[in-house]
Amino acid sequence: MRAWMNGELLSDPGAPAVLLTDHGLTVGDGVFEAVKVVDGQPFALTAHLERLARSAAGMGLPAIDDEACRSGVAAVLDGPELPLGRIRITYTGGPAPLGSGRGDEPPTLIVVADRMDPWPEATAVATVPWPRNERGALAGVKTTSYGENVVALARAASQGASEAIFANLAGNLCEGTGSNVFYVVDGELRTPTLESGCLAGITRALVLEWYGGVEVDEPLEVVARASEVFLASTTRDVQAVSRWDDRELAAPGPVTQEIREMWAKREPELLGL
Ligand SMILES: Cc1ncc(COP(=O)(O)O)c(C=O)c1O
Repeated sequence: MRAWMNGELLSDPGAPAVLLTDHGLTVGDGVFEAVKVVDGQPFALTAHLERLARSAAGMGLPAIDDEACRSGVAAVLDGPELPLGRIRITYTGGPAPLGSGRGDEPPTLIVVADRMDPWPEATAVATVPWPRNERGALAGVKTTSYGENVVALARAASQGASEAIFANLAGNLCEGTGSNVFYVVDGELRTPTLESGCLAGITRALVLEWYGGVEVDEPLEVVARASEVFLASTTRDVQAVSRWDDRELAAPGPVTQEIREMWAKREPELLGL
């Protein structure tokens, strides 16, 4: 693992670095990005930095320094080449009083790179009973306040699934804890709209741009009619769903397979960009 914080590469990434009063730590006042690394190069970095800037604005944090982020990314990749890895960029409110109000200190910017194992081609998912709040102040913002995702994922894991799926307050399909959901009904590829409260996933956007698909909000129960389902995310890319709760699915189904092949072919276009 290599780590960079507030302008400097850390000589020991395992050593304590963030202050105990950092608002990201005490109240989850922060935003982040996970960027895939392939053959030592970041994938779609510009799109991730744009989303990070939107998240910071959504959270009311000071505007983020794009060049500082890029320096951090370059610094953590400047070592033994990572054939497959992940960069995490975290931007928090910085040191602050112990309550929810922010302090006057500058924000904290952290960039970490580490290796990553590829996900299997197919996986199981489990619906969780807690809704995503599409009307909340932070709907669609990639904040470090991921406690709900931690609880949901643990529940999914207890059911032998690698991802938990949320409906939203309206009862419509929304997203996973760290992935967007696509499904095929009557031969049509569909995914929830951004109004559902899901994150505007980079992988989701690229699947829609490169392959096409319909953005639509439908009750969660629609998946009972789906002939195939896949997850889309930075770490999973396009991953077929072989079981949703008790329902077995073809994995990968023909549409998912076509998109997986398209992804493998087109991914190099955005390496280093
Ligand atoms: C809540 C949530 N939804 C969806 C995604 C997928 O987004 P992306 O494709 O940009 O990784 C992620 C992961 O980043 C996420 O945390």
